[in-house]
Amino acid sequence: MNIDGKPWRTIWLEDGGRSIGVIDQTQLPHHFTTRSLASCAAAAEAIRTMVVRGAPLIGVTGAYGLMLALQADPGDESLALAFEQLNATRPTAINLRWALERVNGVVAPLPPEQRADAAKAEAAAIADEDVAMCEAIGSHGLAIFRQLAAARPPERQREPFNVLTHCNAGWLATVDWGTALAPIYKAHRAGLNIHVWVDETRPRNQGASLTAFELGREGVPHTVIVDNAGGHLMQHGQVDAVIVGTDRTTRIGDVCNKIGTYLKALAAVDNGVPFYVALPASTIDWTIGDGVAEIPIEARSPGEVTAIQGRWPSGPAAASAVEPSTAGIVSVQLTPDGSPGFNPAFDVTPARLVTALITERGMCSASEEGLRGLYAGAKENN
Ligand code: MRU
Repeated sequence: MNIDGKPWRTIWLEDGGRSIGVIDQTQLPHHFTTRSLASCAAAAEAIRTMVVRGAPLIGVTGAYGLMLALQADPGDESLALAFEQLNATRPTAINLRWALERVNGVVAPLPPEQRADAAKAEAAAIADEDVAMCEAIGSHGLAIFRQLAAARPPERQREPFNVLTHCNAGWLATVDWGTALAPIYKAHRAGLNIHVWVDETRPRNQGASLTAFELGREGVPHTVIVDNAGGHLMQHGQVDAVIVGTDRTTRIGDVCNKIGTYLKALAAVDNGVPFYVALPASTIDWTIGDGVAEIPIEARSPGEVTAIQGRWPSGPAAASAVEPSTAGIVSVQLTPDGSPGFNPAFDVTPARLVTALITERGMCSASEEGLRGLYAGAKENN
């Protein structure tokens, strides 16, 4: 995707492959800066602190983290330690473990001196495949959007096709394109009159900061709303479809995504609004059936609930008084001193609330039959 006319991916090799470059997402939307990660520990820290985030991007960063570890020490113990260190950074997105296992499966049988190069090649393959999968999701999603837009009554044909999304499942969450946002980009580029309702996505505001940033840079019409506005908009016919990403999809089609996704699905079903989940194969956990019972939900710091982060000074007047690029990112306390916070980062939307899954292989029902129809031969341990 483009930033000021220059195409970017979210992760790339630097220094002849001795380090990886990433966009520092903790500074967006106010500052566009990049970081170099030159060790496995730096890659793990970047995932843990959400310099990089989003299930597919976490996986690719983990894969390159193994490469960095093997460049420093290609021995068995180093490989096992790096695997554990990276895998422990964030527990919910299955893409991380999936990518680590994929690289580990390639390098472990090799002699140590061949491992770093093999890890590099495998991580690059995972990154390229992610781009291809996301673009394919975009094409399948575009076909659905076209059908839904065309099926609206004649008097609504001239109105924008209104899509609501939660969190950030755009190119910043992947290597490029995104999952839930890929169909939106394709629709916009194809000339569909599309408008996006962007849930702010408290507590970390990935919608307000990252999705709004992405859509703005691509020129996609959008409006940021508070998380609680979605149900009201659906009741008043202002949402034609909801589309979100997922950090882990179980074999029966339960989807785990950013906290608040479940409430959007409930509101969508109550109002007859189709609720789509976009995902690449790397997000499916075939070992798990009941997502509510079995998916580990990351509990993050209560400080993300009791305070909010933003740019200071704010507003157009302040922006003209202070060079925007030097304005500070500050944290502001919201709650009384002493009030505790609780911060589950994800929730599970049961398959029964999902209209359909949109994958790189096409659309299917959120069910074991649906997923196995697209991914014949998938085993419980892959
Ligand atoms: O905590 P985050 O920002 O990593 O959460 C990201 C999400 O919830 C995305 O919706 C999900 O990873 C799917 S991304 C393509």
